[in-house]
Amino acid sequence: MHDIQQQLELKRAQARLGGGQKRIDAQHAKGKLTARERIELLLDEGSFEEWDMFVEHRCADFGMQDQKIPGDGVVTGYGVINGRLVFVFSQDFTVFGGALSEAHAEKICKVMDQAMKVGAPVIGLNDSGGARIQEGVASLGGYAEVFQRNVLASGVIPQISLIMGPCAGGAVYSPSMTDFTFMVKDSSYMFVTGPEVVKTVTHEEVSAEELGGASAHTTKSGVADLAFEDDVEALLMLRRFFNYLPLNNREKPPVRRSTDPAHRLDPSLDTLVPDNPNTPYDIKELIAKVVDDGDFFELQPDFAKNIVIGFGRMDGQSVGIVANQPLVLAGCLDIKSSIKAARFVRFCDAFNIPVVTFVDVPGFMPGTAQEHGGIIKHGAKLLYAYAECTVPKITVITRKAYGGAYDVMSSKHLRGDVNLAWPNAEIAVMGAKGAVEIIFRQDKDDPAKLAAREAEYRANFANPFVAGSRGYIDDVIQPHETRKRICRSLVMLRDKKVENPWRKHGNIPL
Ligand code: HXC
Repeated sequence: MHDIQQQLELKRAQARLGGGQKRIDAQHAKGKLTARERIELLLDEGSFEEWDMFVEHRCADFGMQDQKIPGDGVVTGYGVINGRLVFVFSQDFTVFGGALSEAHAEKICKVMDQAMKVGAPVIGLNDSGGARIQEGVASLGGYAEVFQRNVLASGVIPQISLIMGPCAGGAVYSPSMTDFTFMVKDSSYMFVTGPEVVKTVTHEEVSAEELGGASAHTTKSGVADLAFEDDVEALLMLRRFFNYLPLNNREKPPVRRSTDPAHRLDPSLDTLVPDNPNTPYDIKELIAKVVDDGDFFELQPDFAKNIVIGFGRMDGQSVGIVANQPLVLAGCLDIKSSIKAARFVRFCDAFNIPVVTFVDVPGFMPGTAQEHGGIIKHGAKLLYAYAECTVPKITVITRKAYGGAYDVMSSKHLRGDVNLAWPNAEIAVMGAKGAVEIIFRQDKDDPAKLAAREAEYRANFANPFVAGSRGYIDDVIQPHETRKRICRSLVMLRDKKVENPWRKHGNIPL
């Protein structure tokens, strides 16, 4: 018995060594942790239960029969983060560059299947050269098995991808179908085809970093939600992020009590919005003052900055926050901001997380670039997302809510549950100046008359009371009481139940 136990420990030690000490050292020299070190940091201490440590590939081509490493380049299993269950896979770059074989894919699929059965999230730590070239189509099949599971798990359990090394070819599609993608600066890349292929096909010379580094994906493509300085920061932030999410689509969002009183008033909000309606202010100041302890976990902060999205807590309960940002493009909705917010609203809706929307929007962005880029279709994504959303929806209009953008931003007409406005809110078809220039075109050469018309329009329409008189706004509130009013509304909405009509699935304008 003793011998057998020793053999087991030897086998385990061999598996733990992955591709060997030399490759582990090379990984460390790049400032990267190993697959196992990453799991240790991500999960609560001692909680990891590893599966399939002895799985090996079945490839017999290109001398692969003599190169079998137990575990086959991916460490899989489950554990807990702050006591809450999570399934994990962590690709081991020291074993064939973390490349995905058929057996490697089967290991990932096994934890995904189990996560679905018990209703727990899956976190993937990606560090892989893509399809295992020696295996050919078996590897492609393996990828497709993972993709299929990503889709079936979508909206059932949260799926999070952390990109911690190269992620090329097929390796990018699984993360892109998960709910959130985080990257590590300077050591992670995502691209469908790498710089060499790009050069051959398009004659563009581009570095891996420029093509698919963290900066490209957090500022230009919007593929990644956040980028962190190094592996350690990424894993610790992921632990923090995990706390906002329910484990599955049948759970209510987690509650984490704080000492911040739900009825806390903030007088500084009364002067947040400048007197001049064209002067910007930072909507993140409002968010920080309203959520518990000023703690806001922002996503995609450097992409489509004209809209702000992220998680916070109100009286302990997780909420998703969507807010127009007057500091950027005056808070206009454009293609990128519509897509960014739409996907976030859909995540919150799928996982029972209430959506709090702060509105200060002068409308959709005009121009040929937007029209030809498909703002009609992309703007409709946000409209669609809010309209199908059945979780508690609370809306606060802090200043402008003009035109179609008024409708889109969680208006009463899209089943907003509680719609509030600050006293200075302007809810109208458009701004006063634009409106009088159209309806009083005959006075265009008489500035004094036009100014008088504008003042008249502003007095009559640029306020929250016209909408209030129709019940489109439930109440006009003092800015300083915003937190209290939202917290109370959330309590009232705790057991909200609304069901959309049965259908196979809707057809969101993709
Ligand atoms: C098998 C691979 C591999 C792969 C890397 N390795 N990628 N083995 N299949 N796809 C091995 C290397 O041979 C090497 O082995 C070790 O991993 C480390 O690789 P290096 O090249 O030394 O590391 P580095 O310089 O850091 O470069 C990493 C890399 C590069 C950028 C990932 O290896 C690379 O470009 N690999 C190929 C990427 C690729 O074309 N993948 C296929 C994509 S097609 P040794 O023994 O020397 O340590 C695809 C289709 C799927 O994925 C489509 C599904 C829809």
